[in-house]
Amino acid sequence: MENIYLVGFMGTGKTSVGKELAKKHKLCFVDLDELIELREKRIIADIFANEGEQYFRRLETRILKKVAKEKGLIVACGGGIVINPLNIKIMKESGIMVCLAANPEVILKRTSKETHRPLLNVKDPKKQIEHLLKLRAPYYAQADRIVDTSRLSIKEIVDKLSKAKAKVKSKKTKPRLKR
Ligand code: S3P
Repeated sequence: MENIYLVGFMGTGKTSVGKELAKKHKLCFVDLDELIELREKRIIADIFANEGEQYFRRLETRILKKVAKEKGLIVACGGGIVINPLNIKIMKESGIMVCLAANPEVILKRTSKETHRPLLNVKDPKKQIEHLLKLRAPYYAQADRIVDTSRLSIKEIVDKLSKAKAKVKSKKTKPRLKR
């Protein structure tokens, strides 16, 4: 089975949903941000603060390339992974790309309880969320499937995504055309 990549803005539930989806289908779950932190032995906020965003983006692609060599993984990606077209290519070639979406109000509510996201540690996080969402919309739109999570529970999202998982299987088992 190919991998399922969960993309989408910060606070759309990629990690919580990914863990539950993996549990339900007895698959392995990996979180790219966590792999980056393990490799770097420091948290993302420190990587941004000391090396800058470009350095982080290079690491993100490097780790994604490694993960893409594996099969049958549920992969939670950082919210900005889609801004590099190469990352989208890697994900699509090694699996399906599922985007979790949410409206800015919901994102603000979900992310305001946490402080670990450097891009949202700004004076006006709502404005920043709207700005980044606008910039990233064309990239998120390239996902194979988009689920609006604004009014859904984790279980409801997992149930919806289980259908996407079935699609991965059928993609793999689709009979080849006879020549
Ligand atoms: C980022 C999202 C974060 C993390 C980093 C940058 C982004 O991941 O990768 O802070 O650019 O949207 P989450 O989406 O898991 O919060």
